[in-house]
This record gives sequence, structure tokens and C-alpha cells, in this order.
Amino acid sequence: MIQIETKADIQGRVREWKRAGATTALVPTMGALHEGHLALVECAAQEADQVVVSIFVNPTQFGPNEDFDAYPRNVSSDVDMLKAQGLASCVFAPGPSEVYPAWPNRTWVDVEGMDRTLCGASRQGHFRGVVTVVARLLAMVQPDVAVFGMKDAQQFFILRRMTEDMGFATRLVGVPTVREQDGLALSSRNRYLSEEDRYRARALYAAVQSARACILGGERRVDAIERVMRQELEGTRMDYASIVDTSLLMPVNELTSGMEVLAAVAVHFGSARLIDNALVTVP
Ligand code: PAJ
Repeated sequence: MIQIETKADIQGRVREWKRAGATTALVPTMGALHEGHLALVECAAQEADQVVVSIFVNPTQFGPNEDFDAYPRNVSSDVDMLKAQGLASCVFAPGPSEVYPAWPNRTWVDVEGMDRTLCGASRQGHFRGVVTVVARLLAMVQPDVAVFGMKDAQQFFILRRMTEDMGFATRLVGVPTVREQDGLALSSRNRYLSEEDRYRARALYAAVQSARACILGGERRVDAIERVMRQELEGTRMDYASIVDTSLLMPVNELTSGMEVLAAVAVHFGSARLIDNALVTVP
């Protein structure tokens, strides 16, 4: 597995692969890798001949009061994990000036409206930072496929809209959320949980699963479904528990047959903010 740090080197490498007839998949990450990230790499290896994992803690997607400085960084242990898995051909870990050649950054990619609900409502500017950095990574690497986790479903739907609108030749693939045995979605932020909060954090999965069961059981009233999710999260510092449609991520009033919706929750536990969701097609 090779390690690359510059835009020129990654472009050269991918060009060589292309010339040899090989396809490339990119797995964008911020490092602090866990089994969830490795599942994306596994999917990427099935989708393309060469797999590039990018590691870049992107400053523009963190708000002023968020954990950018404290975000766990350990590229060498990330590299060890990827080597042990044996599926990635390349780690691309660019420095800030490769991604943002002129600072402060002036050029932004923004998907209007889709960032107004769920995490976008409480994390102003977060998705503008995510979309901008992913657009740059796609421009640098020019992969055939890019793989993302459905744990961050809002991120996935916003990025899919961006790549369609911008005409990127990259196909986006979403991978189902990887979970602990009790259902908690794996996250780099789980390490911040106290023992008690770790136990209480099971409520997120319980909430989205109960929303799914309600919908599949025939419930069509969104307020009733959201009430069930809030009940599961009672006693926690909830940020949201909402049902939105997957095309524009807007709140829906009533469910109709065939509609694809996202039941999504976010909860604060101490300094950690955890999210989870269930994607459901209304029967
Ligand atoms: P990061 O939080 O490092 O996540 C990288 C990728 O791993 C994302 O696509 C995320 O959805 C996926 N992922 C995280 N936990 C997962 C789990 N339990 N199961 C499946 N997939 C999981 O998301 C980002 O970084 C950044 O916003 C990024 C897209 C890299 C842009 O900076």
C-alpha cells in the first residue's frame, strides 16, 4: 500500500492506473478509522480495481464550537488497520494547502435547502464544508466510484445531488451502517462516551427501529411516528427526531405508498453528539 500526500502524485498514480485499464474507487474519511470505515473499503474493492482511502480532517466542516482541534488524529494506526485489511492500494493524506491552496477559502460548493433540516439545522455551514471538500477530492482523484456510509445519510443524499448537478463522472455508492452488537452505530466519537452514556446511547437505534416498525406497520401520520421516536429518547439531550423525504430532505406531513423516507435522530451525550437513521420505503 502506497502513501501519497500531494495532488500531483495522486493524479499521476490514478492516471497510470487508468492507462493500464484499471478503475479507481475513492473512500473519503477523516481518519480515526474503525470497522465502519473498513466496510466502505471492502465495498470499494468490490466496485473497482484500485482503492484510494483519503484521510483529511477537513477544517471547513467544523463549526467554531465544534471538536476540530480535539478530533482524533492517528494516521499511522489508520495505515496499520488498512494494511491489515489488505484491500486499499493507496492512502491519500493531503496537507491542508493541497486541499485549500489559498486560505481563507473563497470557493464553495453549496447544495441549497438540503442542509436546512436534521444535522444542517444545528450545524450551520457544516454541509457546505463537506460538499466543498468532497468536490475537491473528486476533482483531485477523479475516481470512477466514491463510497460513503449511510450512517451519515443526509451527507450521502446531499453529495449525490451535488455530483449529479456538477456533472462529476463519479458514481456514488452508499454502504449500510455498521453497528455494535447492541445496535449502536460505530463512530469515531463513541470513544468520548462515559460508561453510563454508552449504555444510554442504545436509545438511538431503538428510536429509528421503532419508527421503521411503525411505518411498516401501516402508520402514515408523521407526528405519531416522531412521537414514538421521542419517547425512545426520553431523558436524553435530543437534538432532533424527524422524518424527511430522501430527495430534498424536507419534512413530510403525511406518508404515501412508495415514498422513500429517512427516520433520523441526533442526541448529545456529554461532549459527543451521536446520530442514527433508518431508510424506509412506505409500503
Ligand atoms: P468520517 O466521519 O471519517 O466518515 C467517513 C465515511 O465513513 C463516511 O462516508 C461515513 O458515513 C462512513 N461511516 C462512518 N461510520 C460508519 C458506520 N458505522 N457504518 C458505515 N459507514 C460509516 O464523513 C466524513 O468523515 C466526512 O464528512 C467526509 C465525507 C470524509 C468529508 O470530510
